[in-house]
Amino acid sequence: MTIQLGSEETAGDAGRAEAEGTTLLNRRDLLAGTAGLVSAMIVGSMGPSAARATESFPDDPTRVPGKAPTPYGQRSSFETAVRVPRSWSASLTPLQDSHGILTPSALHFERHHNGVPTINPAQHRLLIHGLVDQPWTFTLEDLKRFPVVSRLAFIECSGNSSIEWKGPTGKTVQDTHGLTSTSEWTGVALKTVLQEVGVKPRASWVLAEGGDAAAMTRSLPLASVLDEAILCYAQNGEPLRPEQGYPLRLVIPGWEGNTCIKWLRRLKLGTGPFMTREETSQYTDLMPDGTARQFTMVMEAKSVITSPSGGQRIQPGFVEIRGLAWSGRGRITEVEVSMDGGRTWRQSVLQDPVLPKCHTRFHVPWRWNGEDVILQSRCLDETGYRQPNRTTLVAARGVNSYYHYNAIQSWHIAADGQVSNVQP
Ligand code: CO
Repeated sequence: MTIQLGSEETAGDAGRAEAEGTTLLNRRDLLAGTAGLVSAMIVGSMGPSAARATESFPDDPTRVPGKAPTPYGQRSSFETAVRVPRSWSASLTPLQDSHGILTPSALHFERHHNGVPTINPAQHRLLIHGLVDQPWTFTLEDLKRFPVVSRLAFIECSGNSSIEWKGPTGKTVQDTHGLTSTSEWTGVALKTVLQEVGVKPRASWVLAEGGDAAAMTRSLPLASVLDEAILCYAQNGEPLRPEQGYPLRLVIPGWEGNTCIKWLRRLKLGTGPFMTREETSQYTDLMPDGTARQFTMVMEAKSVITSPSGGQRIQPGFVEIRGLAWSGRGRITEVEVSMDGGRTWRQSVLQDPVLPKCHTRFHVPWRWNGEDVILQSRCLDETGYRQPNRTTLVAARGVNSYYHYNAIQSWHIAADGQVSNVQP
């Protein structure tokens, strides 16, 4: 591990870091062994001892044959990152442990309103009716015969970061931002299937209904979803996970997760919104004057530093600041990072690929000198929308809301290196 770090892996970063007047872990640190390495590593809240295998292992793996192939793989038993349940109906993705932009299917956040149903795909049907030329019932096999589409997209629950409205509540980035994940979603374009049944000209909204015990239903304006909505049967190269809607899910890239109806069983075309429970009493935004915003579907641009982040502890020396940014309106074009609580900002490097309506990874080199500081990130998307600070967001929205909190996140680093959530 030390050899990789010292030779090729950091060559690009080294140039950047030197240009910034900092130096990376140098060869002398690395040759000094563990001391040098640990000085620059971020130590998790549980410390290195958390990585302990649940199975026995040989002292020297070159001396004994390894294992045979297995029918369905598992991660190393040394790895411990897990979803954390928020309640009986939600669990959060461990963003602090994530790499790149894809979320492993097993760690994709969950939100369901009456549990995860067990559905036999052979019995599952999608009914399309209402203002159509020919009402039709599709089997999964029918849907898989249509031309396929596939794309990477984030899904974010509009309740992500809701606990931050009233003050700095989350201990970790998993608590504050863990209701967003990115997958490759594969299926058939909604418009392809709607062309097959023939949509009547006066149809302007579509009701989508899930086959779970909540029969989750949302109304969607047809013109806004038709270009990008996918009837998905696969996620990250295999059938959807049950908690992500197996065997069929509507995915609308960039829209609040609740509109991406899981266990999809019905689409009804109509002339207006259907005013379901989940778009009247729920998923509305209560404004300071007592009125409520309804049908706020697009997830606005947002970013967060995932490392260092709440609950971690850093040591003086080189620290690469890493994070994620995303926008429901398109591509992220810029992420800036502040090491002084928002007084000055530095451009981060956006890591390829940078895709529309998809998690985007950013990083910036830094040398922590042991001072008390506040780290922040803010992003800009291709429409020119800039992520607001908390003061600006609260001035516009008040603090009555539950959904759509996208303010700049601040992480305080104390002199002992401990990272915690603050709202300066
Ligand atoms: Co909304």
